[in-house]
Amino acid sequence: MAEPSWTRLWRAAEKARRQAHAPYSKFFVGAAIECDDGSIISGCNVENASYGLTMCAERNAISAMQLAGRTPVRIVIVVDHSRPVPPCGACRQVLAEFAPPGVEVRSRTLDGQELQSTVGALLPFAFSGAFLDERKPRKKR
Ligand code: THU
Repeated sequence: MAEPSWTRLWRAAEKARRQAHAPYSKFFVGAAIECDDGSIISGCNVENASYGLTMCAERNAISAMQLAGRTPVRIVIVVDHSRPVPPCGACRQVLAEFAPPGVEVRSRTLDGQELQSTVGALLPFAFSGAFLDERKPRKKR
């Protein structure tokens, strides 16, 4: 699709970033997903005083997308940083659950530096539900 689609996504991710709850890391992240129906669903990181409960922007966006009953077409992540930030490992696994390997993921800084990748390139050899389907029948104990 033409570039304006990405522009809309950047705007949504930047807006989401401003809603981030990141008082501990001060690392404010916004993510936006363009869905199969053209709608845009965004997310921000939400931290907690109990640090381990922190949820990344990407996974919050994916959860909202699932709630809306949509599937992802393209994904962006925005940070105010000296270089673009790729999704963390946990988010890559969650993205791989919902997005086919060819779905493009672009990370961007507020000053426009960009990193382009795909879900498949970010997580090669992903674990997936297919492995669960292939389980050997187990004997009853
Ligand atoms: N974070 C994200 O939201 N997405 C990423 O891809 C990397 C990290 C958040 C989690 C935490 O709130 C803060 O950034 C610092 O790790």
